[in-house]
Amino acid sequence: ASPGVYQRATETTQYLRSKLPQNLQNPRVAIVCGSGLGGLADTIEPEPKVELEYGNIPNFPKSTVQGHAGKFIFGLMGAEEIPVALLVGRAHFYEGHTMDLVTFATRVCRILGVETIVVTNAAGGLNQDYSVGDIVCLNDHLNLAGLVGIHPLRGPNVEEFGVRFPPLSDAYDLDLRRRAHRAWKTLGLDKQKRRMHEGVYAFVAGPTYETRAECRMLRTLGADVVGMSTVPEIVVARHAGIRVLAFSLVTNIAVLEAGSRGDDPTVEAMSKVELDAHLSQGRANHEEVLEAGREAAKDMQALVKQIVSDFYAP
Ligand code: 6GU
Repeated sequence: ASPGVYQRATETTQYLRSKLPQNLQNPRVAIVCGSGLGGLADTIEPEPKVELEYGNIPNFPKSTVQGHAGKFIFGLMGAEEIPVALLVGRAHFYEGHTMDLVTFATRVCRILGVETIVVTNAAGGLNQDYSVGDIVCLNDHLNLAGLVGIHPLRGPNVEEFGVRFPPLSDAYDLDLRRRAHRAWKTLGLDKQKRRMHEGVYAFVAGPTYETRAECRMLRTLGADVVGMSTVPEIVVARHAGIRVLAFSLVTNIAVLEAGSRGDDPTVEAMSKVELDAHLSQGRANHEEVLEAGREAAKDMQALVKQIVSDFYAP
């Protein structure tokens, strides 16, 4: 990380604390809401609640999207009134931010005293056993950008956060994953058509979606889902000793086969209608990503709330 990041994160934490009442000063859990999963904000009590727009928070990345960059929401969750921080919206690497900025909010969470981070995202399904709308509890990742040097911990180690060479073999907390599967049953979500899997997330820089050849490559490498977020945050969280639980919402299933009739330039051309239908198969688009989110968001909300309540039950 770049020098001064600890100082900047400390300043930002002081700013946030200055805006929070006593009972919200020390969130124990942070929940990062992925695309279309902002409804997770409904899992906290209506009072007390403090919303702070990223645009007004010192040192936060400046959004590259018009309108709302996102916001921090501080509140209490469940009967146990656990203080939590929700991050609605996140900075992505493809926007042009440095890895320091992509992971800045995670570091602020550490200084706020967060013990556990629940990271959610919308992702493409590579595992052909998955369906659109399924939820994947992540148990590992492929940090493709990281392996080639685009890594949030590159540079002088920030000792205040953690060690130079952090292990990641146990990054995805087994106890929390067990609780996730138990919560899925407790809520009766196993008796409906949406399923929850355990799987491996491949992090790519984006912003293009993958070609079919790239999807086959990622599948061969062992990935079950692919997306453009989450892994930098998880790496920085583990460096700083924060427990991690992560979920992907499967918003589309990649078509892995190449060279079917619609792509074969040597056979008689398909009709326009036939060809459109063929090409739209497995083509990721932002609209279907948002649609799958709307439907599955409620289950994801209930799941996260149940896990947090279960974890902090007396
Ligand atoms: Cl197919 N790929 C990536 N990289 N991110 C996604 C996605 C696909 N679907 C949703 N997010």
